[in-house]
Amino acid sequence: MYKSCVMLIQLDEITKSYGVPGEASHQVVLNGLSFRVNEGDSIAILGPSGSGKSTLLNIIGTLDHPDGGDFIFKEKNITEFSEKELDRFRNREIGFVFQFHHLLPQCNLLENVMIPTMMDKSGKKEKLRNAEELLNRVGLWEHRDKLPGQLSGGECQRAAVVRSMINHPSVLLADEPTGALDSSNVDKMADLLMKLNRDSGIALILVTHSRELASRMNTIYELKEGKLHTK
Ligand SMILES: Nc1ncnc2c1ncn2[C@@H]1O[C@H](COP(=O)(O)OP(=O)(O)OP(=O)(O)O)[C@@H](O)[C@H]1O
Ligand SMILES: [Mg+2]
Repeated sequence: MYKSCVMLIQLDEITKSYGVPGEASHQVVLNGLSFRVNEGDSIAILGPSGSGKSTLLNIIGTLDHPDGGDFIFKEKNITEFSEKELDRFRNREIGFVFQFHHLLPQCNLLENVMIPTMMDKSGKKEKLRNAEELLNRVGLWEHRDKLPGQLSGGECQRAAVVRSMINHPSVLLADEPTGALDSSNVDKMADLLMKLNRDSGIALILVTHSRELASRMNTIYELKEGKLHTK
């Protein structure tokens, strides 16, 4: 298994609360959370509903801001980035997969997986080759002209993984990627993620309720009382 000791992400004493301090609505979700991810790591995050898993993933994915703490990604302090810098950074470095695939119903499969490449027009040919290579790898190249509605749930979810990989991100964040899949598709998704981790060295951070998927990762954490604990 690919393993490196080059640090990719470091979170230090991250805090995140919702609501107004002092009022009943106030809720501390992340409470001084520290976490380190090396290149090529594969990590599962478990934890009960409401423990803050999606909040944490959104912070790592720069879709949400922490209230406090430091966030270093590839030796850069992300907390100092402007919104515009964050958009470019996110598009280049981070792939997302969610519980539901969010493919655009009116676009065919190939168009859907090419969407993240539209922000940067350069290297179109190479990106198309990359799409072909990835779609071939997941057995979907022959379905490239189909609309999402003409594909199975498992096929759509694998296409969502291809879309997340199209810009060669250094980390793939997945929030319940198999939550809507049956067990044979959970297996296929686990195989695909592990293959990407092995072949491309992409770091995986998965939030999952599936013990089966979690057991394929190098490290398993539980999010409890606002912090991560090794399982
Ligand atoms: N925008 C928001 N405003 C107020 N509270 C929020 C907001 N987003 C999340 N929360 C609260 O923060 C807590 C953590 O939510 P989060 O979605 O991170 O949990 P989770 O661990 O992903 O849960 P699940 O397993 O159900 O997806 C929850 O109690 C939720 O109600
Ligand atoms: Mg969640």
